[in-house]
Amino acid sequence: MVTVTFINADGATAQCEAEEGTSLLEVGQAAGMPLEGTCEGQMACSTCHVIVAKDWFHRLPEASEEEEDMLDLAFGVERTSRLSCQIDVTSDIDGLSVRIPSESRDMSGS
Ligand code: FES
Repeated sequence: MVTVTFINADGATAQCEAEEGTSLLEVGQAAGMPLEGTCEGQMACSTCHVIVAKDWFHRLPEASEEEEDMLDLAFGVERTSRLSCQIDVTSDIDGLSVRIPSESRDMSGS
């Protein structure tokens, strides 16, 4: 089992046991994190956006061009943002920590 930590927008942390072969999105969803993952990993939404801890970012396999393009559209993107559906759970990510972006996606247009 691989252990990953999710940090909620309000700072609460959740340590999760993740099974190899799943995606980080699935792990987060199973842990009740507010990750919609509307397109289920098809890279057609950006609702699975997470911000990877800085010291982990460069240890992950690089994002594809499609992922980068999708991230451009995500809300609250930071330098270490990734799409969680594109992060495979392997023993390499044991100890990974990611933050959930704050939910301030206010569409009221004020
Ligand atoms: S679930 Fe849609 S891009 Fe990740």
